[in-house]
Amino acid sequence: MAFLDKHEILERNATLLMVGALAVVTIGGIVEIAPLFYLENTIEKVEGMRPYSPLELAGRNIYIREGCYNCHSQMIRPFRDEVERYGHYSLAAESMFDHPFQWGSKRTGPDLARVGGRYSNEWHVDHLVEPRSVVPESIMPSYSFLKETTLSVPDVQADLAANVAVGVPYSQDMLDNAEADLRAQADPDADTSGIEERYPKAKLGDFDGDPTRLTEMDALVAYLQMLGTLVDFSTYDDASGYR
Ligand code: HEC
Repeated sequence: MAFLDKHEILERNATLLMVGALAVVTIGGIVEIAPLFYLENTIEKVEGMRPYSPLELAGRNIYIREGCYNCHSQMIRPFRDEVERYGHYSLAAESMFDHPFQWGSKRTGPDLARVGGRYSNEWHVDHLVEPRSVVPESIMPSYSFLKETTLSVPDVQADLAANVAVGVPYSQDMLDNAEADLRAQADPDADTSGIEERYPKAKLGDFDGDPTRLTEMDALVAYLQMLGTLVDFSTYDDASGYR
């Protein structure tokens, strides 16, 4: 084939090959990048997203510390099989307050982007203490120590302030009440009117089955129960055609 013979010219001339490769990559780059200049925003407008409550944020820190992202993604892709299994595909807006994001790159276990509200608190506690007690074939490790470990809250406010520094819109009111809100969310006897106003839809009450103690389990379960529940999909105009 005459065309294939010509390939030799490129392969024997390093400079020409480099110039050719550069040309191809440039065209590819322009095709990918240029459309972004014409978009006003790559994050869709949604109702309901809010910064994580201090307790959810503490749970998220534990999620990261324990490396849950090594086995779990938080990103439902817009394919029918994923949407049928996990729910509405993830929106960019849903991770806009995640620093760093938890999309993950591996699914040894299921995606967790919409696990909030799917199980009871008791189920989560049983599952985290001993996964095989509720899912006999599970290979997930046990995290029973979370239930025994008192949640350490030396600098909740600093944690929120660090998020403000990277663009999360915590208000001064939220910063001032950070530690009180963290404790109130998991305390069945607390006055929660402030937290409900600052963090709509936050799940309230005891999470780990022991109302007398605030443990790492409380924080992690509060975080899991919030995942994927914030965006109000009844007001979201989905123009993509999926679902
Ligand atoms: C070694 C891999 C691995 C790690 C690490 C891991 N998991 Fe899992 N996880 C799994 C597997 C496999 C399943 C599916 C079986 C089951 O439900 O136990 C699962 C299931 C789950 C489920 C139920 C999801 C559903 O929709 O049914 C939750 C919630 C969960 N994991 C949370 C966590 C959290 C939180 C952490 C970190 C503290 C974590 N996992 C760490 C492997 C892992």
